[in-house]
Formats: sequence, structure tokens, C-alpha cells
Amino acid sequence: MCGIVGYIGNKKAMPILVNGLLRLEYRGYDSAGIATIEDDKIVVMKNKGRVNNLSNLSGIDKLVGTIGIAHTRWATHGKPSKENSHPHLDNSKSFAVVHNGIIENYHELKNFLIEKGYEFLSTTDTEVIPNLLHYYFNQDSKNDEKKLLRAVKNTCKDLKGSYAIEILSTYNKDKMIVVRKDSPLVIGKGLEENYISSDIPAILSYTKDFYLIDDNEIAELSRDKIKFYDSELNEIIKPVKSIEWGALSAEKDGYEDFMLKEIHEQPRAIRETVGAKLDNGKIEIEGLEFSKEYLENLNKIYIVACGTAMHAGLVAKATFEKFCKIPVEVDIASEFRYRDPLIDERTLCIYISQSGETADTIAALKLAKSKGAKTLAISNVIGSSITREADYSIYTHAGPEIAVASTKAYTSQVALLVILGMYFAEKLEKVDKSEINNLKSDILKIPTQIEEILKNTKQIQEFARKVYKEKDMFFLGRGTDYAVSLEGSLKLKEISYIHSESYASGELKHGPIALIENGVTVVAIMTNPSLVEKSISNIQEVVTRGAKVLAITSEDIKNDGLNEVIKLPKTNPLISPILSVIPMQLFAYYISKEKGLDVDKPRNLAKSVTVE
Ligand code: F6R
Repeated sequence: MCGIVGYIGNKKAMPILVNGLLRLEYRGYDSAGIATIEDDKIVVMKNKGRVNNLSNLSGIDKLVGTIGIAHTRWATHGKPSKENSHPHLDNSKSFAVVHNGIIENYHELKNFLIEKGYEFLSTTDTEVIPNLLHYYFNQDSKNDEKKLLRAVKNTCKDLKGSYAIEILSTYNKDKMIVVRKDSPLVIGKGLEENYISSDIPAILSYTKDFYLIDDNEIAELSRDKIKFYDSELNEIIKPVKSIEWGALSAEKDGYEDFMLKEIHEQPRAIRETVGAKLDNGKIEIEGLEFSKEYLENLNKIYIVACGTAMHAGLVAKATFEKFCKIPVEVDIASEFRYRDPLIDERTLCIYISQSGETADTIAALKLAKSKGAKTLAISNVIGSSITREADYSIYTHAGPEIAVASTKAYTSQVALLVILGMYFAEKLEKVDKSEINNLKSDILKIPTQIEEILKNTKQIQEFARKVYKEKDMFFLGRGTDYAVSLEGSLKLKEISYIHSESYASGELKHGPIALIENGVTVVAIMTNPSLVEKSISNIQEVVTRGAKVLAITSEDIKNDGLNEVIKLPKTNPLISPILSVIPMQLFAYYISKEKGLDVDKPRNLAKSVTVE
């Protein structure tokens, strides 16, 4: 989705802005642009395509302004084109704006402005913003230092929808104004300089001190000062937060791609995620105040998320149900929010979001809150929107995930959810302590077991080389193996563009087996000892119909007609997906590489889906 960068300081803004945009490339975009103030004028440079198309524009290296805004656009209103890319100017060229989000009532506002004589050069919703700023600025007869802020305030009052906006104006050449509602925006505080970004990793190499702006707050940035206001322009004080992430975590650090790096970071990510909560055999989760009575009274737990995060919920369902004896429903956020789910104060709603900015997940959380349920957010980003909305928040320690296809966030989410399930179970005392203790000791072994798997990736690479030209593949599993097969199938679709389907092995005979023919590739996950025999019979059914099978298993199975068997270390089936997903992530990765695709930035996808 769109990305925002901004700079005000004493250095040339252009290289900082372009560098920031490059770091936001992973979010997905189709055009890029910057605006700086050069002498007394706003200069805008923008282009369709990659950031390199922008940085190669002639004249861009002549920009010496020390204040500027920048944007990567992911088209929503209006096709990807130079005209539609940001920044947008008002008709008098006194205001430049970049915007993330969607202005829902832009038609109405555009008609209003057209009636007032304004002309529009693009088909975007954003272009109403600089023109509204101009309109309100000129309506205001009071010429004091808050005039620009008042124009921003009045403009925002007209806007319906979601937005994070950066504003430059020739009326105040040493200030930059930003405002947000339902779209992420952070301010990085430096020494005599300040940075803005929609995403922390873009400016992590410049500062670790951040201000998190809340909905409807306005910030006015000078070189040495940042002032914050509420929507009525009352000044407010905000605390600065220090982020632990190192700058290197947003770099490739010698790996060919971010995805490969992030796959290899999983042992560390899980060690830290688990280690922060499970110490010396004891689980402690700071900030969670769920009493035994509250948990005993629950009629249901909902786990709600999108995509890969939802798949993590599907794996964790088994732990909560087995250990807590509470029914768990896992739902897709975009469905949940519109289907009037049965929620009351006896329902606990858990929301998972790596970015913490996914629009559907946030809306689903707000819905549950309005129905009186307690909400718990699981995110990877401290201070992200979802964590500010939820009653409680807990964090994975995956570090910034840059590749669009999620890997380390998924495995960390599963680990954290399982820890949470055990934490509830210990309070509820419904299962034998030894069962929980065994799972605790198994989860502590997971990072080393992943390291073992990652030592030998050749087998997967070779199988990927044999099948990368295929058009369709199938992923099969039972229980948590089925839950993780959905994730394996999604990874393959996302980065290799091969169509794939995931089925519960037992469902095969009820229809999908009709698709199995000579040469079709099937990935079979079989880690649960109590289900392995049943799974093997299902796999034999596809083998006899000519399928090429990649089996991923921790059991000693006979290689009866299987093409490749990846042997995993043994662990509890409740957490085996954390291990079995690794070969599937690598399988998708190597297929994508064989096909010569952009692994980190697959087509049509955005890292953080901040609009519906
Ligand atoms: C797939 C992927 C997506 C995200 C989904 C939710 O690899 O990354 O399916 O899991 O868009 O994103 P978050 O977790 O940021 O809410």
C-alpha cells in the first residue's frame, strides 16, 4: 500500500526522501514522487513505476531544499500514472500534499471545489486536499501563526474516510504539518531534524526515537521542535518512544532477498518471542489481567485476522481448545466485520496483525469492542493502530518484516498464541500440569530444531527445480497439518504465481481427487503420529493416480512411491506447524527464484493492507 516519508532539517531532503521510499518499496506501489521547497517555490518530481524511475529523473539531483515530503502510491482512485501519483498541488501551487488512505466523500468535495472555480489535473481522491487547504486558507481573514493549522483543521473536518497526510506550504516554508485518521504515521525525532514515515523501518537508520500520532491529531514540525494538537487545535503533550529494532534488521545483511533472510531469522525471532514470556518454566505475560473467573466464564474465543495471520490463528485453535476447553472460532476479519457475529461480554476476541495496521482487522476489533467483548491484539509493531485500539496487546519479537510474504511473523505468531493458550490453561487448571510442562519444553526446543532444518535446504531446492514450471499444486494435511498446509499453499501462490489448493486430506474423496492426474504435484504434511496412518492412505490414493509427492513428516514412513521425503525433528503436533512450514516457505522461495520472479515484492500485493 502507499508509503509516506518526510524530512525537515539542515541536510538536503531529496536523498533522504528517496532513500526512505526505497525502504518502503516492500509495501507495494506503482508510482513515486517527492516535493521539496526550493527557494520560495514547491518543486514536485514524480513518475510512474519504481523509485528508480523517480531518482533517474533529470534535475532531481539539483534539489537542495531541506524540507520535503515523499510518497509511493498504490493506486486506488485513478489508474497508476504520473498525473495520479503524489505529491499533489493546489491550483495556486502553494500547498503540496501526499496522502495514504481513501477520501470517501471526494466526489462531493470535488464538486464543491469545481463550483468555486478549482480545476483538477488528476483522477485521484487526494487532489481535493491541497485545494481545500487553499480554499480554507484564503477564507481565513486572521493572519496569525496558526493560520495554516486552521486551514488543516477545517480541511480535515470535511474529509470522510481514512488518511495520513503530509503538507508543505509556501506560506510557511520552515514548517511541515502532518495529520492522521485510521492510517499509520510516525514521527522520528532527531537532533535539529525530524523525520516522518508511514512505517518505522523506513527511517530506522536515522533515529530510534519516535512519536506515535493518534487519530485526528495534528503535528507541526519545525527543525528543532514538534508541536502536537488535537482536532480543535488545543496543544497536547506526547511522550517519545524508543524502538528497540536495530537499523540492520531493515537491511538484507548479505542475503539475496529479504524473504530468505527472514526465513533464516526464525530461530532468533521465536527464541525472543518465547523467551520474553516463558522463563524458568514460568509463563508471565505483562499487562494481561485475565482472572480465573473471567476465563471460566468465557463462552467463546474468537481469533480474527487476515491471510497468514489468520492461518496462525487456525493452528493455535487446537491449543486453546485442548488445554482451555473453550470453543474457539477463527475468522477472516473482512467476513467477521460484516456478519454480525455472536459476541457478548463473555466472549474474548483475539486479533492478530503483524503490521497492526490492517484495516479489516482493526474494524473487526472495533466491532467486538462495541458489543462489550474484551479485545486482545497480537502484533509485531509496538504502538501500531491495532494495539492502540485493543484493551490488551502482546507482541511478537520478529523484528521488522520487509518481504511481502510473511514468514518469521507467522511462526512467531503461532509461538506466541501457543504460549497464550498455555497461560490461560494454567489459570484454568483444566488439564494435567504435565501436559503443559511437556509443551513448554517442546516449544523451547523449536528454535534449535528450525536451525537443524535450515542446515540442509538442498533437497527442497532440487525438488523445486523439478516442478517450478507446473501450473497447479495441492497441499494436504490433517489437524494442525491441515492448518499449516493452508499457509504453505498461500506462500506458493503469493510468490511463485502457481495456482495451489489446500485440502484436509480426508476431504479428498469428496471432490478434489477428481483433479489428481498424472504428474500433478502434491505436498503432503504428516507430523501427527496419531493421524499419520490415515494420511498415508490418502497419499497412496494420489500416488496411484500418478501424483508427484513431496512429503513433509517427522514420522518414519515408508517411501512408497513418494518422490521426496523431508524429515523433520519430532515435536508436539500443537506446534509442529512452526517446523513444517519452514520447508514450505523454502519450497515457494526456490520456485519463485527458479522462475526469476521478484521474491520480496510479488505482483499486485502490498505488505500492509491499510484500506478495505
Ligand atoms: C501473506 C501475508 C498476508 C498478511 C495479511 C495480514 O504472506 O503477509 O496474508 O498476513 O495481509 O497482514 P497483517 O498481519 O499485517 O495484519
